[in-house]
Formats: sequence, structure tokens, C-alpha cells
Amino acid sequence: MSTAAILQDSGANHKYHNVELAQLPRPVPQAGEALVEVEAAALNHRDLYILAKNFPGTEFGSILGSDAIGRIIEVNGSSDRLRVGDRVVVMPSLGWISDPRGPEDEANYVLLGGTRASGTMTQYLTASLDDLFKAPEYLTDIEAAGLPLAGLTAFRALFTKGQVTKGQNVLVTGIGGGVALFALQYAAAVGANVYVTSSDEAKIERAKQYGAKGGVNYRNAEWDKELLQQTNGRQFDVVIDSAMGPGTATIIRSVMALSGVLVVFGSTVGPVEVGRDLYIRQIEYKGTTMGSRAEFERMLEFVEQHKIRPIVGDVFEGIEAAPKAFQHLRDGKHFGKVVVVLKKSP
Ligand SMILES: NC(=O)c1ccc[n+]([C@@H]2O[C@H](COP(=O)([O-])OP(=O)(O)OC[C@H]3O[C@@H](n4cnc5c(N)ncnc54)[C@H](OP(=O)(O)O)[C@@H]3O)[C@@H](O)[C@H]2O)c1
Repeated sequence: MSTAAILQDSGANHKYHNVELAQLPRPVPQAGEALVEVEAAALNHRDLYILAKNFPGTEFGSILGSDAIGRIIEVNGSSDRLRVGDRVVVMPSLGWISDPRGPEDEANYVLLGGTRASGTMTQYLTASLDDLFKAPEYLTDIEAAGLPLAGLTAFRALFTKGQVTKGQNVLVTGIGGGVALFALQYAAAVGANVYVTSSDEAKIERAKQYGAKGGVNYRNAEWDKELLQQTNGRQFDVVIDSAMGPGTATIIRSVMALSGVLVVFGSTVGPVEVGRDLYIRQIEYKGTTMGSRAEFERMLEFVEQHKIRPIVGDVFEGIEAAPKAFQHLRDGKHFGKVVVVLKKSP
């Protein structure tokens, strides 16, 4: 059997769906698939949207979670890349191979977890061998668990869309977020001048340990002026934003350089009208979501090359703690990834 955290209907009178533990039959790998014993799985903001009844395509009874690291314990077929015993991370979505514009078959593209594609918060999972990749060796299981979804999203946002290069001024909003922290680390790794925003001064200070040159509290009335003071008036070439709130309009109006690139990957606050400064100021407004399998592979190479370490906020022990971990994410006090360790040490 395999214990898993699944999505359950809470009924119309409750604001949130439930996370329940279930004993499911251990999955059997089909041809071209591997069976993975999951060591650790991580949570993402999308899990909150699912629980808050605000995510398309959810299915009750589906295993939650999009991120995992584990060990291959059975292979059905043959692979040049992978074998039994390999420590692997799982591509967090199905149906997007390599097209830089987006999924080749948009209608069938699906994220793992809480949907028709079974998720990762489970002791055992099966996946296509093509969707499994060796985890960077220098990372612990707990670190590597937090890499797939957020690491991929940040990689595409920053490089495929933002085309960030050395010496540019880059702003990452809401630095407490999992994706935002990867964006900070990646941009700093290529030599950009990275600044951040947050609701929490302590998170700004911690961001400086990971390469941020400065940051401001987005709740301050004049945060944009404070930010530009820190850069001696130099505006931002690229902004990576997931709030899409009133602050995004301010960013377009006063924080960005003329013709700057605004990459948006979420709408935690909004979406709100961004206003006509968008075109008056020649802003390149780019939406992005997740990334292809080819980008996932490139992201892993980049992470390995720069020895990026995913920032882990809180760790929960045992699949039994999964419901508590989801509750913790909802409280919003985390900095970095929230991880559940599934495999108990012998
Ligand atoms: N399109 C995609 O592929 C994709 C992938 C992953 C995530 N997302 C979306 O991106 C967002 C972040 O996801 P995540 O998993 O990284 O989130 P997370 O770890 O749950 O963190 C959310 C962060 O949002 C920030 N935030 C809240 N209010 C804000 C505001 N007014 N202005 C700026 N930031 C604000 C907070 O930053 P502080 O704590 O620093 O204040 C918080 O840490 C979510 O909306 C999620 O759905 C999209």
C-alpha cells in the first residue's frame, strides 16, 4: 500500500477543501515508466488555490503535491539515463515537451497534484522515465524536494521571458514566495543587481544573505521612492512579479526603466488593471507559467552549475504531517519551501 495526501470535498458550507490521508494500492509502473519511492515532497502556492476552491480542473480523490524527490525502485522498460537506485526529481507537469511558446497540446497540459494527474504527496508514485531526472548530487533530499515547480517557473520567467543578464537591475516582488526566492538566487548567480519587496523586513534582511542588494516593504506608502533611493535613481530593466496588485501598476509607472520587461507569473493579490502607463512607458509585459521539459532539464543544469541551494523554510516529518504542512502554508509565515519528509530514516 501507499499512504497519500488526497483532496477531498468539504461541502458547500466550508471555505476550504480538505486534505485527507488515504491508503491507496501501490501504483504499478506501465511500459516506459518507473516506480519511485518518494523521500520528500514540497508544497506550492497552487495547493492553496486548490484547497480554496479556486483552481481549474481539480478532482476529488486526487493525490496532492507537484514536487518530489525519490529513488527509483522499479523500471518497466529500458533507459539510457536512469536505473534502479537513482535519486530523481519529477517533472511537475505533463504535456509540454520543448516548445518555447507554451505546451504543444494546450488542452491536455496538466499540472501534477489535485488534478487528473496524480500528485507527489505519496509514498510511491509512477512517472514516465522521460519525466524523471537525476537530482543534483550536492543537494539534500529536503532541498531537492523544493526544486521542481518553483525552480522551473523562476527559470523560465527569468531567462526565457526576462532574458536577464549581468549588470541589469532586477526587481523580484514578494520575496517570501518559493518562486521569488529562486528568481533572486538565479538572477544574483548571473550577476544582476537584485532588489526585492516583501511585507516583512526580516524577509528582506534574509534575502540579502541570498544575494539581494536591497529591498523595501511593499506596504509602505512610498515604497517605490524608497526603492529608487537605494538604487541611486536607477530604474529596473526586469521585474519578476506574482502579485498583479496595485503595486504592479506602481512598478510600471515609476519603478521600471522605459521599455523594461515585466514578467508576471501569478496574481496573488490581483489581477488588477495595470493602467495605460503600460504602453506609454513602452513596457514589455510578459506572462509566463511553469516551463517545458526541455527548460526543466536546462534549469537542473543551471542549478548544478551555480550550485544553487533551494531555500527551505519549514520541514514536516512523515506523511501524517501533510495536512499540518498545508495549514502552515496557508498561514503565510514561511520563507522558502515547505517540505514534507515521507521516508522515515531506518
Ligand atoms: N504561473 C506559474 O507557473 C506559477 C508557478 C508557481 C506559482 N505561481 C503563482 O505565483 C504566486 C506565488 O507562488 P509561490 O508558490 O511562490 O508562493 P508562496 O511561496 O505561497 O508565497 C506567496 C508570496 O506572495 C507574496 N505576496 C503577498 N502579497 C503580496 C503583494 N501585495 N505584493 C507582492 N507580493 C505579495 C508574499 O511575499 P512576502 O511574504 O515577502 O510579503 C508571499 O510570500 C502565486 O500566486 C502562485 O499561484 C504561478
